[in-house]
Amino acid sequence: MFYSPELGYWVVTRYEDVKSVFRDPLLFSPSNALEKVTPAPPEAQEILKKYGFDLQRTMVNEDEPQHMERRRLLLDAFLPENLIKHEPSVRNLARQYMDRFLDKGRADLVAEMFYEIPLTVALHFLGVPDDGAEELKQFAVAHTLNTWGRPTREEQLAISENVGRFWKTANDILDRMRADPTGEGWMYDTIRAHMDHPEAVPESYLRSMMMAILAAAHETTSNATSNMFWTLLSDRTAWDEVCENPALIPSAVEECLRVAGSIVAWRRIATDDTEVGGVKIPKGGKLMIVQASANKDGRYWENPDDIDIYRDNAADHLTFGYGAHQCMGKNIARMEMRVFLDEFVRRLPHIRLADGQTFRNLPNMSFRGPESLVVEWDPALNPEKTDPAIKERGTSFKIGAPAKDDILRQVVVAETEMTADGVLRVALADPRGRSLPSWTPGAHIDLVSGDIRRKYSLCGSPQDTRTWQVAILREDAGRGGSVHFHETLQAGDVVQVAGPKNHFKLDETAAGYVLVAGGIGITPMITMADRLKHDGKRYRLYYCGSSRGRMGLLERAIADHGEALSVHIGDEGSRIDLAAVLSGLRVGDQVYSCGPERMLDALDAMSQTWPEGTLHIEHFSTGSSILDPEKELPFQVELSDSGLTVEVARDQTLLDALTSAGIDVPCDCNEGLCGTCEVAVLEGDIDHRDRVLTSTERKANTRMMACCSRTKAGKLRLAL
Ligand code: HEM
Ligand code: FES
Repeated sequence: MFYSPELGYWVVTRYEDVKSVFRDPLLFSPSNALEKVTPAPPEAQEILKKYGFDLQRTMVNEDEPQHMERRRLLLDAFLPENLIKHEPSVRNLARQYMDRFLDKGRADLVAEMFYEIPLTVALHFLGVPDDGAEELKQFAVAHTLNTWGRPTREEQLAISENVGRFWKTANDILDRMRADPTGEGWMYDTIRAHMDHPEAVPESYLRSMMMAILAAAHETTSNATSNMFWTLLSDRTAWDEVCENPALIPSAVEECLRVAGSIVAWRRIATDDTEVGGVKIPKGGKLMIVQASANKDGRYWENPDDIDIYRDNAADHLTFGYGAHQCMGKNIARMEMRVFLDEFVRRLPHIRLADGQTFRNLPNMSFRGPESLVVEWDPALNPEKTDPAIKERGTSFKIGAPAKDDILRQVVVAETEMTADGVLRVALADPRGRSLPSWTPGAHIDLVSGDIRRKYSLCGSPQDTRTWQVAILREDAGRGGSVHFHETLQAGDVVQVAGPKNHFKLDETAAGYVLVAGGIGITPMITMADRLKHDGKRYRLYYCGSSRGRMGLLERAIADHGEALSVHIGDEGSRIDLAAVLSGLRVGDQVYSCGPERMLDALDAMSQTWPEGTLHIEHFSTGSSILDPEKELPFQVELSDSGLTVEVARDQTLLDALTSAGIDVPCDCNEGLCGTCEVAVLEGDIDHRDRVLTSTERKANTRMMACCSRTKAGKLRLAL
């Protein structure tokens, strides 16, 4: 956070600071978002006047309360359920354009595809006739340089001529549309909203928006697509992984929007004296908020400079802005980018960037994308040569931010071994022999095979980056997952996993630790014990089982934790006495436990008299997100950052209702276990149903898990 005299702007670069500026449109007005960075000389102003140029407030630079009133009136076309119908035409266009160069072996993807298709899609979405499409390109370049560039005096004159013509063309199109306002498309919706609500959607807005939306809807998406291909083809590993596993496409798109977004900086102006990131900003101070920097802030992102298509919080990037003004078209852009990637990884997986290209960008402070992107390939190797049906085999994705559940990594089963009666140890490795991501004690992975998906704690060593180990207890009376894995998993099999994720983190600041493991619950506990031993901490590990032969990690526990270990075996008469074991708890100690629900409930009951935060429990499932519409009540939530009111139906979770309203809330477990979907609550009476918050946190009534918790009565107001 600093003032740049050269720019005349306060430059905001940290993730949390950028988000906090976006979050408050009253204190940080967007009114300067489309202001010319370089003021026009009088001659340029004359040229613009000649065309009647009069760009006023649109949506993106409008203040409250007018902005929200307008946004609400015009939101419908952007809702996920109304965007689905555009996907088939995007896909058809992608296929047609690719057909043109498929057998050539070389193409400039910007010139031959990525510039035009987003323009056609934008015009179609807006309901604008596409007869002037060719001219629009020149206009758009002029608009970008005029608004966000540093043109010289001479350049300003030429640019003003084009901006003026852009204004006139946009207005002519608008007048034609207004002559018969019954058409389909968002600009027709806007014209009709103007007729019904002229105060909220005034004439000046209509004229300005017609020009601004063409740039907003088109260039942003063209550039983001080209950036994505440039990024993935520069990191062949990521590209190859997407080719092998197209289910990764939505997360790859999000990661590319993070590391190479098409809007790198945006603007606000302070309406009062204030402070950002500890730096004082005077009233009237102009802010340049650098999303590209926030998106790589090491305080927020792990390994921020790596392209990691398995990053499960990539969708937290700020490329689309955040809060009340967050991009309305984000889900159209995502859909287009996913379709393009899907068509290429299937039909031309062997393309590569042509040698010797440099990334040339239009000189400006906000829009980023290469002027050309040349790729090459050997047409003889096109998969369609051997299997023409490939062309028709696309993958469709749900509209919206990617679900974390879908981010699956392929791993190979390196080894399996029965370590005890009913306990199968499975070692997993990267199929190409690369290192696997690191993890921390308490972490788990989801093992996925067809419709079966089960969570297993990692129980090897975090230092082992070649393999991940899990131990699977066969539960014949269970839901069938463990039996399936026991009966089918063999060395050499390729399986899918999500994670590692850690919902059961070890707080390494405690004075001492009591670890209580029941049965297969030993798996996360042993890795915690390993860490505590390594760090020289005071700890004791209690390992309980029904019989010795069924205790899968007994040998390892004895070998590694002999002195610190107490073993309790039911059929040998050494059952654990929890009350006795825990009576010696000292101030500052923490208790961690994983095992049968009965044992966890007993610990939970005992913990009521312990200081807050002493007990940590690992649950593997809850029924908390299963709703009984007979018993549930519908309720309303008001979103303070977005200015929306959302209805939550009796058969819907708050998370589902928010997603349907186009609000991205990250989620992971979907059942109140992980804390990912936490939202801040400003008002209302929360009915907590998660397993994450402590009783003190619940009583504070300021946070809730959107995937399962509801309201006890009345409305909720959320900081979203
Ligand atoms: C606003 C980025 C695609 C329509 C914005 C904002 C950004 C942005 C940074 C300002 C956010 C803020 O002030 O908080 C992008 C990017 C895109 C994209 C990176 C592509 C990758 C689209 C598309 C459309 C669209 C395809 C329409 C079809 C809008 C509108 C707003 C907006 C209407 C104004 C929202 C408001 O102020 O309430 N976009 N955009 N955008 N975008 Fe996009
Ligand atoms: Fe895990 Fe809601 S998504 S608690």
